[in-house]
Amino acid sequence: RALSRMELKWDGTERMTVDYVKGILQPTPTCDSWDQIWDFQARPDDLLICTYPKAEGTTWTQEIVDLIQNEGDVDRTHRAPTHVRFPFIEWIIQSIGSGLEHANAMPSPRTLKTHLPFQLLPPSFLEKNCKIIYMARNPKDNLVSYYHFHRMNKALPAPGTWEEYFESFLTGKVCWGSWHDHVKGWWEARDQHRILYLFYEDMKMNPKHEIRKLGEFIGKKLDDSVLDKIVHHTSFDVMKQNPMANYSTVPAKVMDHSVSPFMRKGEVGDWKNHFTVAQNERFDEDYQRRMAGTGLTFRFQF
Ligand code: A3P
Repeated sequence: RALSRMELKWDGTERMTVDYVKGILQPTPTCDSWDQIWDFQARPDDLLICTYPKAEGTTWTQEIVDLIQNEGDVDRTHRAPTHVRFPFIEWIIQSIGSGLEHANAMPSPRTLKTHLPFQLLPPSFLEKNCKIIYMARNPKDNLVSYYHFHRMNKALPAPGTWEEYFESFLTGKVCWGSWHDHVKGWWEARDQHRILYLFYEDMKMNPKHEIRKLGEFIGKKLDDSVLDKIVHHTSFDVMKQNPMANYSTVPAKVMDHSVSPFMRKGEVGDWKNHFTVAQNERFDEDYQRRMAGTGLTFRFQF
């Protein structure tokens, strides 16, 4: 359905508005209507990286994929910041314009980014049989990461207090909707399409193994020395220092790293420093009920 165009203000005084699209809370589209996103024309050789926000995939996977595609050549991946290298189809970047325009102007082969839940994915990605990488992260760490991201990213709605945000996340009243529905929707779709479904915790536990898997999916055979190089250059500590991957090039009035750095902690289990005992019990009860029978299992700590 059509939504009115919104003029974004990047002075930090006005945050993005949100609206429901097919029942899912979305940032107000940065094009004239949702239909324009829906009608986006994928190309057969597009690679799409999809995550629920703050599942890690959007930055870590992008960096890994770029290094795989460039066979470990770091100079080539330093050509531009992450958000310039990878069009974000349903978003707007101040210096670039809408994600749709950005993607349409990019020559093939393109690697694109989205946070869309499966049911809102532009159909052409499936019609063209594009390869899609989906990365999921355990919901407790995902919630914590998303909360801090709302605090530092002035384009997103203000998160409220931690307690308020906890409730918003559990009830799916956050941008891109319910975590539970997102991970389940993509999980159920994975066998019918060319979807590689990965987990943040596996990537943390054994990055070399997961990067090899990604290489095979993309169609690149990587020798051991290239794999080791990619593991090193995509480690949290190296990426945190890399201005082409740590979002430090985005103006502070949009992303304020002094509130919370984009490359914040990069750990499994940080939720324990945030959840109260009562919140944890409530979360677990809700999680068991909603995830039962899906076959999806997440690790909440090592
Ligand atoms: P934390 O906030 O828990 O630190 P996204 O890229 O989807 O926006 O997700 C960002 C989250 O992924 C942040 O989590 C960030 O620190 C983490 N992350 C990014 N790069 C990483 C890396 N190389 N290793 C581990 N975690 C990484």
